[in-house]
Amino acid sequence: MKAKEMTHTVKALFAGDKGLLAMDESIPTCNKRFEEAGIPQTIEYRRKYRQLIVTTPNLGKVISGAILFDETIHQSTDDGVPFIDMLKKAGVVPGIKVDEGTMDLAGFPGEKITMGLDGLKERLSKYFDMGARFAKWRAVITIGSVIPSRGCIEANMHALARYAALCQEAGIVPIVEPEVLMDGAHDLKRCFDATIKTQHILFDQLFAQNVNLKWLILKPNMVLPGLSYAKPASIDKVAEATVNCLLQSVPPVVPGVAFLSGGQSAEDATAHLNAMHVKYKGKLPWALTFSFARAIQQPALEIWKGKDENVAEAQKMLYFRASLDNAARRGEYTPEMEK
Ligand code: 13P
Repeated sequence: MKAKEMTHTVKALFAGDKGLLAMDESIPTCNKRFEEAGIPQTIEYRRKYRQLIVTTPNLGKVISGAILFDETIHQSTDDGVPFIDMLKKAGVVPGIKVDEGTMDLAGFPGEKITMGLDGLKERLSKYFDMGARFAKWRAVITIGSVIPSRGCIEANMHALARYAALCQEAGIVPIVEPEVLMDGAHDLKRCFDATIKTQHILFDQLFAQNVNLKWLILKPNMVLPGLSYAKPASIDKVAEATVNCLLQSVPPVVPGVAFLSGGQSAEDATAHLNAMHVKYKGKLPWALTFSFARAIQQPALEIWKGKDENVAEAQKMLYFRASLDNAARRGEYTPEMEK
């Protein structure tokens, strides 16, 4: 077990007020975002876009770790510098998404199971040799009239625990991401109930699989009403519900929690993280940070539009959004800073 290596990785990922950048969209997801922004959906444009991100000036001042996708971890800049080396040079720890996406879960209509355990041991060892020091696996839990089912939650949390054990065996810190989706018209209470149940079952499975919680990062959803629910919840209510949920399910030995943004606006995701720090500063057993994809990238992607002449402006926006999330980690973010 590469204990020292993993301890070092965890420390680096939660250093100061920094957080993580998820830039691990699968090819179909990245293409979908490109299509919406009018950008050609080719391997070269995906490379150019990821180059824009990893060459952002001073990225390492605001971002501690970046999660890559398999296609991206093999790519390089125009000058032939591997992206993974660019990140290391910037002081950003490289990570890798290792799940292989979701498929319908047999016997459970409307629910999904995440794939990717087959051959994972070998893939992890290859990624470690390439320089990746942490990994991510995302499970999705859907809220509907009669779901999520216990069967779906258990199957997904079992897979997450098996993945986490394999990561630690390889010296890679696992990020476990049980995402309760925002899609739907459910209220905040239903999201809370689904999230707390999911997290309880997750930690039960992690214990059963001998995963050492001190080398583990939880990447949860915030507790929110569904996207098509009539009334938005206040910033403070979301912060309270999210922290209360975590306090009841996440053991104190877990070093840190890094939230996904899950379809919230960039401003909302930042404001919610900020409110948690304002209200609970010094009172929580684990660090709270961000591991956003859309809430950091989307405004920059919309500026870039696939055009070389927009790269510098897009990079400024990426840096700006991440710096606002740093402010949120200090509990110092205000909406005025958006201007
Ligand atoms: P979002 O912040 O866009 O939800 O993405 C985070 C992520 O890594 C999803 O797996």
